[in-house]
Amino acid sequence: MRVLVTGGAGYIGSITAALLRARGDTVAVLDNFWRGHRAAIPADVPVYDVDLRDAAATRAAVQAMRPDAVLHFAAATLVPESVRDPARYFGINVGGAIQLLEAMRAEGVERLVFSSTAAVYGEPERLPIREDDPKRPINPYGQSKWMVEQMLAASAAAYGLRYAALRYFNVAGAALGLGEDHDPETHVIPLALLTVLGRRDAFAIFGDDYPTPDGTAIRDYVHVLDLADAHLCALDRLDASLGPLNLGTRDGASVRQIVAAVERVAGRPLPVRIAPRRAGDPPALIADATRAREILGWEPTRSSLDEMVGSSCDWFRTHPRGYGSGDDR
Ligand SMILES: NC(=O)c1ccc[n+]([C@@H]2O[C@H](COP(=O)([O-])OP(=O)(O)OC[C@H]3O[C@@H](n4cnc5c(N)ncnc54)[C@H](O)[C@@H]3O)[C@@H](O)[C@H]2O)c1
Repeated sequence: MRVLVTGGAGYIGSITAALLRARGDTVAVLDNFWRGHRAAIPADVPVYDVDLRDAAATRAAVQAMRPDAVLHFAAATLVPESVRDPARYFGINVGGAIQLLEAMRAEGVERLVFSSTAAVYGEPERLPIREDDPKRPINPYGQSKWMVEQMLAASAAAYGLRYAALRYFNVAGAALGLGEDHDPETHVIPLALLTVLGRRDAFAIFGDDYPTPDGTAIRDYVHVLDLADAHLCALDRLDASLGPLNLGTRDGASVRQIVAAVERVAGRPLPVRIAPRRAGDPPALIADATRAREILGWEPTRSSLDEMVGSSCDWFRTHPRGYGSGDDR
C-alpha cells in the first residue's frame, strides 16, 4: 500500500512510518518541520516539506505521491499553548485538515486514519470512557480535534470518505531507534526520565490529593509501538468507515506509579516536588477500548509500565540531545 504520513517527522508519525516500511508498504512524509525532525525520517523516504495550511502545496504533494491512504498525525498538540493561542490551533488542526481532505477528494484518495485524542471527552462522567460518551472538550486543542472528527463523519456521509479516528489516551515509549524529542516537553514519562537522568532539576507532581488510591492522577498509557500497530490494523480495514476508536489498555497508572517505575528502571531516586492541581486535569482518564479490540483485532502487547519507561529511558540515554540540533535537523 502507498501511504502518505502527515506529521511523519514527529514522535508517533515517524515510528508508525517505520513500522509501515518494515511490513513492505511504500511511505512518504508530509511535514513542515515546525516540531518534527529530519533525522527521524530515513534518507530514502520521500519528504514533502509542506505546511498543511497551504492548499496548493498540500494538493501538489497528494498529487505527486498518489497514496492509497493517508495517516494524518500532523497537528499542534499542546493544551496550554492552545489556550494561549487558539487561532493557531484551529488554523493548523482544523484548517490544515480541511486542506488535506480537499486535496484527498480532488485526487480520489478515500482512506484516512486520523490522530484524535481523549481530550475530545473533556472531564468524563464515568470510567472507563466509551466512544459514544459525551464530547465536551474543555480546551481549544480538544475542540479542534473534535471539530475534525465531525468533519470526517460528514465527509464520509457526503463524499464516501472511509476513515478511522483513533482516540489516543497517553502514548509513551521508544522503538526502532526513534523516540520522543518534543520542545517543549510536556509529557510526564519523558519529564520524569529527563529529571532522573540529571537534565532537569525536579519533577513536579500536579496534585497529590485526588480521589485515587495514592492521591495522584491516573492516565491510560499505551506503548507507541502498540499504538502504531493500531494504525496498521485500521488501514487494513478501511473498506468501510470505522469511525472513532479509543486506544488504551484500561490499566491506568498513577503519577506515583510512574515515579516508582522510573526509579526502578534508572536505578536511582527521582527528586519530586508536589505542586497544586492544574485546572482541567481530571483525577483519572481510562479508555474502554472494546471497539478497537473487536473491530481492529487490536491487542496491546508491549504496554506494561516497565516496558514503556524502559524503552524511553534507553532512548534518552542514547540520545542525550534528542535528534540533535543544527546540522542533523
Ligand atoms: N503524544 C501523545 O501522547 C498524543 C496523545 C493524543 C493525541 N496525539 C496526537 O497524535 C499526533 C502526533 O502526536 P506527536 O506526539 O507525534 O506530535 P509531534 O509534535 O511529535 O508531531 C507532530 C508533527 O506534525 C508536524 N506539523 C505540525 N503542524 C504542521 C503543519 N501545519 N503542516 C505540516 N506539518 C505540521 C510537526 O512538525 C511534527 O513533526 C497529533 O495529532 C497529536 O494531537 C498525541
